[in-house]
Amino acid sequence: MTFKSGRHFLQIPGPTNVPDRVLRALSQPVIDHRGPEFSRLSLEVLDGLKKIFKTSGAVVVYPSSGTGAWEASLANTLSPGDKVLMFETGHFATLWRNVAQRLGLDVDFVPGDWRHGVDPKIVATKLEADSEHAIKAVGVVHNETSTGVTSRVADVRRAMDRAGHPALLLVDTISSLASIDYCHEEWGVDVTIGCSQKGLMLPPGLGLNAISAKALAASKKARLARSYWDWEPMLSDNKNGFFPYTPATNLLYGLREALQMLFEEGLDQVFARHKRHAEATRRAVNAWNLELLALDPQECSPSLTAVLMPDGRGADTLRTLILERFDMSLGTGLGKLKDKIFRIGHLGAFNDLMLAGTLCGVEMGLAMSRVPSSKGGVAAALDYLSSTAH
Ligand SMILES: Cc1ncc(COP(=O)(O)O)c(C=O)c1O
Repeated sequence: MTFKSGRHFLQIPGPTNVPDRVLRALSQPVIDHRGPEFSRLSLEVLDGLKKIFKTSGAVVVYPSSGTGAWEASLANTLSPGDKVLMFETGHFATLWRNVAQRLGLDVDFVPGDWRHGVDPKIVATKLEADSEHAIKAVGVVHNETSTGVTSRVADVRRAMDRAGHPALLLVDTISSLASIDYCHEEWGVDVTIGCSQKGLMLPPGLGLNAISAKALAASKKARLARSYWDWEPMLSDNKNGFFPYTPATNLLYGLREALQMLFEEGLDQVFARHKRHAEATRRAVNAWNLELLALDPQECSPSLTAVLMPDGRGADTLRTLILERFDMSLGTGLGKLKDKIFRIGHLGAFNDLMLAGTLCGVEMGLAMSRVPSSKGGVAAALDYLSSTAH
């Protein structure tokens, strides 16, 4: 291994760069999780998270990855054999479907091409046809991290309302929370799933559920087996700032600092920053003459961009070269997109010059590996960034 000078560029779409302020907050001494200081800390972060999810309802925080928060959303609201409507928007939607099936749910998985988001018209058609109300929940991945496609959750909600269907709406915001505007309450979402390692700028280790009153009522009747994920003891202990088991103490210190940073910047500015960086990235991709995986411009993700390799060229050869030569990690193609795409993460703690450096690394990598492409992507992005800087 040759010595790498300077900072690694972590441009995968999560885990994302952890800001120095958060790293310092994480490094505080561990405290007693049954003492008064911890209780103040957790009440503060639980309150702050409500502003991030845009809800006045409960938010729970598990010491877990996002997959745990997926399982919690299903295990707390549904019963064995319940029918669930899900959409094959990409790799993560498929993994969530697998979790549901393993829990004993009956999933209607609407096929997709991994280049589009959830079609609200299909939601309406499926629910209107379900006059018996056999479908108990609709599961949507807001931002498909494997494809860089964002689904229109508010439109899905409207479709459900128009169909007059009582199914719960469960939404995965793992790579959109605190990066792409999201309104748990206003959009009538019943359970929103999130985690720490993306827009919240923390290391992996916290899984989140935001819970509506309707989801809470459903949880009283839901019969799927649950223990670790059970909302009930969590919500009961959280009232006083405590947890039913040992929480991830130091991650909560980091969370407090990350929330503070997001509020200092202002959520609207955070969302605008992500959109602007995504637009600059797409301009670079167009100038390189490469193809975006996302086919519908209104569904292009503000938090990451997936790029198709031309002429059957392997994406992983390019990624390896960029890692070895420029010390930058780009996202790999997942599932059936393995080796066919690379993903540029532009979410979390990120700024114009970090994006410029990222795009420089890609453009140099494309040239060095002789991938058929044009020059000028960086210039196109810089033109856009400089003309929109304020
Ligand atoms: C959209 C989405 N959902 C779920 C997950 C699973 O989260 P985890 O790997 O933290 O379990 C990921 C991980 O990247 C994701 O991007």
